[in-house]
Amino acid sequence: MPDCYLNGEFIALECARVSVLDRGFIFGDGVYEVIPVFNGRTFRLDQHLARLRQSLEAIRIPQPLCECDWAGLLNTLVERNGGGDQSLYVQVTRGAAKRDHVLPEPITPTVFAMSTCLDPKRGHAPVSAITCDDIRWHYCHIKAIDLLANVMLRQRAADGGAYEAILLRDGRLTEGAASNVFIAAGGIVKTPPKSHALLPGITRDVLVELLPAAGIPCVETEVPRAELMGAEEIWLTSSVREILPVTVLDGHPVGSGEPGPLWTRVFELYERFKAGQALRDAPP
Ligand code: PDD
Repeated sequence: MPDCYLNGEFIALECARVSVLDRGFIFGDGVYEVIPVFNGRTFRLDQHLARLRQSLEAIRIPQPLCECDWAGLLNTLVERNGGGDQSLYVQVTRGAAKRDHVLPEPITPTVFAMSTCLDPKRGHAPVSAITCDDIRWHYCHIKAIDLLANVMLRQRAADGGAYEAILLRDGRLTEGAASNVFIAAGGIVKTPPKSHALLPGITRDVLVELLPAAGIPCVETEVPRAELMGAEEIWLTSSVREILPVTVLDGHPVGSGEPGPLWTRVFELYERFKAGQALRDAPP
């Protein structure tokens, strides 16, 4: 039975209970993080914790733990769940209070974390995607637990036999329903700039650092629909799926219809970066 963390205690996941008055349950009033673990070590933990802090600040939930306590808690959770490769899901909601839209007097936030399996096929399998209008709210930079629009968009993709919905707002690429998006054409890689229209993805940031260092031009710029549709390569990035090549978009092949040569290079760079981090983090 896997262990989870709930409000100060490590307990079996099946035994974890929260109040039905929790504002996460009633209003979707909370934020979350998904943190990958490779060989028993959290990947880019500082960056994930910084984004969690920013999400909490944005919705005015007091920080329930300092970064050092978060790190201790999550490392304990990894150990209690057997180390190796995992994915940590962390959720903080405002807490339980009488139902009222207006924020209650300060209450104790609900803090929850669990470990799930990482998909062993992450990064490897080519996928298909569809394009959809981005019907989400205007604060997509906050990693909010209220994911109804993302759920419906992802389901629309699944209904059509596709893996991901790639979203466009006012004719411009924003991101995927659960991923960031990169395109490549003529040897140049592009991804939309950070804004309130998309989540500042941790994997996205790794690529934005790694590509120029390897001599691959990478530009953070608006991507109009025509450029997306004409791209030679399209990649999805996320902590749990890493870098997935999209080979079919709206039923048409992307480029050659096979994972492209730049994706192969970038995936290798990413794997090397991960291995390098594991070495840096290894105990002496
Ligand atoms: N989602 N954009 C959205 C809307 C996402 O939901 C995610 C990841 C990303 C990629 O961010 P990162 O590289 O930090 O994982 C971008 C997670 C994995 C999820 O909701 O399960």
